[in-house]
Amino acid sequence: MSETILILGASGQIGNELTQKLRAIYGNDNVIASDIREGNKEMMDSGPFEIIDATDKETILKNIQKHKVSQVYLLAAMLSATAEQFPQKAWHLNMTSLLAVLDLAKEKHIKQVYWPSSIAVFGPTTPKENTPQKTIMEPSTVYGISKISGEFWCNYYHEKFGVDVRSLRYPGIISWKTKPGGGTTDYAVDIYFKALEQGNYECFLSEETRLPMMYMNDAVNATIQLMQAKTEDIKIRTSYNLAAIDFTPKEIALEIKKHISNFEITYQPDFRQKIADSWPSSINDSEARKDWNWKHEFDLASMTTDILKNLKA
Ligand code: SER
Repeated sequence: MSETILILGASGQIGNELTQKLRAIYGNDNVIASDIREGNKEMMDSGPFEIIDATDKETILKNIQKHKVSQVYLLAAMLSATAEQFPQKAWHLNMTSLLAVLDLAKEKHIKQVYWPSSIAVFGPTTPKENTPQKTIMEPSTVYGISKISGEFWCNYYHEKFGVDVRSLRYPGIISWKTKPGGGTTDYAVDIYFKALEQGNYECFLSEETRLPMMYMNDAVNATIQLMQAKTEDIKIRTSYNLAAIDFTPKEIALEIKKHISNFEITYQPDFRQKIADSWPSSINDSEARKDWNWKHEFDLASMTTDILKNLKA
């Protein structure tokens, strides 16, 4: 398989690890990382990097032509908590970038597009447990509104113009190499850093707030697996439900305590509680498992062991 890939938003939480994995698969020179700021040393040293604003269609096009790009992964976005502070900016970034990339695919400059959606497409009226692919979707956050609109734009460009765009509704993604910024599920990343640095953590969600989550390794694998799947196996062109694990702050704290016995967690819910309360607690992703054979690998225990081992090293 020979592809030349452009990643928009490569310096972010998911972009960073996805870039390294794609470089390992497709060759360093065939994966062009880009962002509005430079990436870390590993990214800058391991392959091509361009400064690109993901809302700037002309610059994206210039780089597609310069590098003969066949696929674009659009990962630049403003997450849920920040988007509530800057609604206009969030809408602009999240929608303008998507429409630019979809247009470039419609104009046949690229063959394939990846764009992430989120559990934020669901809202307070959605069935909370084992949330199905097709259900009530009335998001209550700016981020969620941008994601559900984006899903329908993807489906529209696919139906109307034959654009090969593929998408996943990510749960909260947990990583240790690069921290997320401005999300509601970010507590489940911060907690590991604070557990090691200071032995305690003040959580901005309440102890029983159950949310769908996934370890970064699984998220990266799911993304690449979806992009490599045969066209005829992709039956959903809005975005696939995707799941691995779900837990509460209390449960992740108990898991950390198995490794750091004096670890303490306290709870000080803020405005992000309301966002979390509007989202599902678990997701039914049977469609992804059936259509393109998705399987997750990490549970809460194996993820915790892996993160703490890596952070200590
Ligand atoms: N992790 C994201 C957030 O919390 C959800 O997609 O905003």
